[in-house]
Amino acid sequence: MHPDCERILLTEEQIKTRVREVAAQLDKLYEGRKPVVVCILKGSVVFFVDLIRAMQSPCELDFMAVSSYGSGTRSTGELLIKKDLAANIEGRDVLIVEDIIDSGNTLYHLKKMLNRRRPASVNIVTLLDKPSRRQVPMEPEYTCFEIEDEFVIGYGLDYAEDYRNLPYVGVLKRSIYEGK
Ligand code: IMP
Ligand code: MG
Repeated sequence: MHPDCERILLTEEQIKTRVREVAAQLDKLYEGRKPVVVCILKGSVVFFVDLIRAMQSPCELDFMAVSSYGSGTRSTGELLIKKDLAANIEGRDVLIVEDIIDSGNTLYHLKKMLNRRRPASVNIVTLLDKPSRRQVPMEPEYTCFEIEDEFVIGYGLDYAEDYRNLPYVGVLKRSIYEGK
């Protein structure tokens, strides 16, 4: 285990099993259709590549980079689009792949923005959800794991750009971010 980790929350094996289950549900949902599967950079990239390889449905891949301002542990409630989709999503089924939903602000604004482009549907699949932290109404259609209000890293998730390549999800030691 990484020394900055307090404990491992989700092992590689637990994640793999759950990702397969959710992929099977998505295959059912999109049967006979070809969704545009959108990776929200950078945090979702690890979940995204595992999820699409566990899905059997044909799909198109696209990428978006959005962020709340700053590099701390909280979202400000404002959305900054750093990279937009390449695809025209009008009339398309869109599946947004997110790493974690915290306040809900990022996806609340993103979903609203994408809906203005008149897609056939927009669904959200998230690896992690912290429902106790919600500030706006945001219910993802698919959640792999609900977690407590703790700051987690690994499997794509970062703290100030570190720890994304850890193969598991771990709880970051408070001493790493306290006082910053
Ligand atoms: P929201 O807009 O508050 O829902 O924030 C979502 C974003 O905040 C995520 O996409 C992450 O980038 C970041 N975030 C929230 N909680 C955590 C965490 O525990 N670890 C790492 N990033 C987090
Ligand atoms: Mg993110």
